[in-house]
Amino acid sequence: METSAYKEYQEFLSKNLALDITRGQPAAAQFDLSDGILDVITDSSQVKDSTTGTDLRNYGGGVAGLKEARELFAPVLDVSPDLMIVGENSSLALMGRVMMWALLKGVSSESVAWQQGDSPVKFICPVPGYDRHFTMLETLGVEMIPVDVNEAGLDVAAVRELVEKDSAIKGMWLVPKYSNPTGITLADSVVQELANLKPAASDFRIFADNAYAIHDLYESDKDTLLSMYKTFEAAGAEDMLYLFGSTSKVTYAGSGLGFMAASPQNRDHLLKLFGTQTIGPNKIEQLRHVLFFEGIDGGLEAHMKKHADIIRPKFEAVLEVLEKELGGTDLATWTKPRGGYFISFDTKPGLATRTVELAGAAGVKLTPAGATYPYRKDPKDANIRIAPTKPDIEEIRVATTILCCALKVAASE
Ligand SMILES: Cc1ncc(COP(=O)(O)O)c(C=O)c1O
Repeated sequence: METSAYKEYQEFLSKNLALDITRGQPAAAQFDLSDGILDVITDSSQVKDSTTGTDLRNYGGGVAGLKEARELFAPVLDVSPDLMIVGENSSLALMGRVMMWALLKGVSSESVAWQQGDSPVKFICPVPGYDRHFTMLETLGVEMIPVDVNEAGLDVAAVRELVEKDSAIKGMWLVPKYSNPTGITLADSVVQELANLKPAASDFRIFADNAYAIHDLYESDKDTLLSMYKTFEAAGAEDMLYLFGSTSKVTYAGSGLGFMAASPQNRDHLLKLFGTQTIGPNKIEQLRHVLFFEGIDGGLEAHMKKHADIIRPKFEAVLEVLEKELGGTDLATWTKPRGGYFISFDTKPGLATRTVELAGAAGVKLTPAGATYPYRKDPKDANIRIAPTKPDIEEIRVATTILCCALKVAASE
């Protein structure tokens, strides 16, 4: 065993630390940026729809959400506002709804339910990916087929091979920009190839969860995602695409707004179904967001720069420690994202579970190894997701140092 790493590890053990770099949660300082939302409405006279004069305290106004809120978030998904649905408190809630309706009722008025008796419903899952996407499908009994995320964002040839042959494959997850956990953005060619897929299932749908659409870390060095909707529309495949987003990492996590965009056919189908579940969304929360961003000089874009200023140094601290501790070794590789909420860290095969275990014993909570794969099975036992946004910078440095030390101990065992 490499004695210096083991000695260092013993020292960490004795410190009784309690650090947590598991979930991609914003830091309190980021929430503070949005506290204007709390008192942007002070009087019931404000709670009116500016175009129709409707009293927003009442039912009415439809299921798609406030016009101003649809206009505010349409540029995030790069669609026209009429394709937007703003509703729920988070994107996951909308994704879950769309998924369940697809399984039960199908994705258009002409199509049948995805779930037909005991026949399997299959979904493509880019890996490593977002654990909650996988948990949703596992709970619903949808069979998950992993496809690798590569430097271009996705092994799209593998996707094509699968979906063009198997009509049981009804859909696919995608985090197109600054993906969770790799931070990789789809190359233009990948978006184009996806738009030109010819799935065996005519009711195949891509669930593009654009959670980090506006979450750049560097103003002068940001990733650009080819307009997904426009590319699919140009290929005549706009019905194949759902786009999702939320304000969870813009204003308050889970206490803001979810939104989505879909083709006119998909939108109308969903609005009809959603309309059986709710008379309408929380329009007052939507208005608060609209008024809050109207009041910010530079709007949403200026607001996101303030987020970046808070979290950029944390990403840089992780990368600095990883380079210092593991640079030049063959123990691990890691991504260097220009945005999003995560760094993806790959140990040498077979070491992730033990590394997470050792780091945990030394007081650093990491997302369980395997969590970034369907059924929590990382075939290489290599991937660990680092979420640097919530802890303060010194905690991040210590936690990353312990992660590196744990890996060195795991490798030497
Ligand atoms: C890719 C992705 N989608 C969705 C979410 C959750 O977003 P929401 O709060 O809007 O459900 C996260 C949070 O980590 C995420 O990483």
